[in-house]
Amino acid sequence: MQQIQKQIKYPNMQKYLQKAITNQLTRASMAHFGQQLKPPVLLVKSDILQFSELPAVKCQDQINQSSLHLASIYSFAMSALNGVVMEIQDCAFPLVQGIVATDNQAVGFKDVNYALMVGAKPRGPGMERGDLLKDNGKIFTETGKYINDHASRDIKVVVVGNPCNTNCLILANQIKDIPKENFTAMTRLDHNRAQHQLADKLGVHTSDIRKIAIFGNHSPTMVPYIDQMTAKNHKATVDQQWVTQTFIPTVQQRGAEIIKARKLSSAASAGNAAMNHITTWVNGTAEGDYTSMAIPSDGSYGVPKGLIFSFPVTVKNGKYSIVQGLPITPFYQGLLDKTIKELVDERNAVDHLLK
Ligand code: LMR
Repeated sequence: MQQIQKQIKYPNMQKYLQKAITNQLTRASMAHFGQQLKPPVLLVKSDILQFSELPAVKCQDQINQSSLHLASIYSFAMSALNGVVMEIQDCAFPLVQGIVATDNQAVGFKDVNYALMVGAKPRGPGMERGDLLKDNGKIFTETGKYINDHASRDIKVVVVGNPCNTNCLILANQIKDIPKENFTAMTRLDHNRAQHQLADKLGVHTSDIRKIAIFGNHSPTMVPYIDQMTAKNHKATVDQQWVTQTFIPTVQQRGAEIIKARKLSSAASAGNAAMNHITTWVNGTAEGDYTSMAIPSDGSYGVPKGLIFSFPVTVKNGKYSIVQGLPITPFYQGLLDKTIKELVDERNAVDHLLK
C-alpha cells in the first residue's frame, strides 16, 4: 500500500532513479579512474578499498591486494553495475585483483577499509528536502548497520550522497564500536571549486592557491573561507565585492548550475573529489596547507558538538586535526551562523533516527 502511494506521489521516480543511478555509476567509475591515476598504494597498508555509492554502487579498492567492491541497494541497478564492472575490467588496471559486484550490502561491506559513498537517493521531481532526508535516513540507517556488522574496524568512510553531512550523521549514529571520527562527509568538491574560481580570478594555476577552506554544510549555505589565502606562497587578496557577489554564490551554487546544464548531478568532479578526500586522509596534507573535510564537530568555532560540519583540517598519519584560531570576521560569523542553523535544523528533522 505504501509503495503504491509513493508511486502516485512521485510517478516518474523509478525512471528518474534509473537515470540518476547511471550518473552515480559514472561517479564511481571516475573515482576509480582517479585513484588509478594517483593511487595511494605506497602509503596505505590496508588491502581493500571500498567505493560506495548509495543507492547505486558501493565500493572499490586498489591498495596492493586490491579487491574492488561494488554494491547496489537496488536490485534493478545490477545491470548498470555489471556494465561498470565490464568497463573496469576493460581498463586492465594493474592494481585491481578482484571485483565483487553485489546488491547485498553484507557482501559489499565485508572487511572493507575505505568506503566512498558516492551517491544517495537523489532529489526527484516534486520532492521536498524533508522527503529526501526521510528517504535517505532509512537508507543510511540500514547501511550503518551493515558497516557496523561487516566492515573492518578501521574503516574510513566518506559520504558524498546528499544531504551528505546529515546522511553521515545518521550513518555514524548506527555504529557501536568504530570511532566516530572515521565517518566524514565530502566538501572537497566545494574546496576544489573554490580553488578553481580563485585561480581563475588571480591568473594562477589551481595548485598555486592554498590556505582556503569550506566551513559548514555541503549546501548553498556553505562558507568558502579565504581570509588566509596564499597564491604562489604569498598572501593573496581579492576584492570584497567580487567575493560576496560572485565568488561565494558561484561556489555555493555550482552543484545546482551543473545540474541545470547537464540535467544530472556532477559525476566526474564528484568522483574525483571523493578520491581527493580519501587520498588526502591517507597520505596527509601538504606542509603549510590545509584542506576541507566535513567531520564530527568537537565544538571548535562554536559549532555544536557532534554535527558533521566542514572545517579546515590538516592531516598527518591518517588522522585529521581542525585548524584552530583562524580569524573569523563578523562577515564570516554571519555566514557561519546560517550554515550552523541549517545543520541543526537538519539534525532536528532526523532526530527520531538518532535515538
Ligand atoms: C554537487 O555539489 O555537485 C552535488 O552535490 C549536487 C547535488 O545535489 O547532487
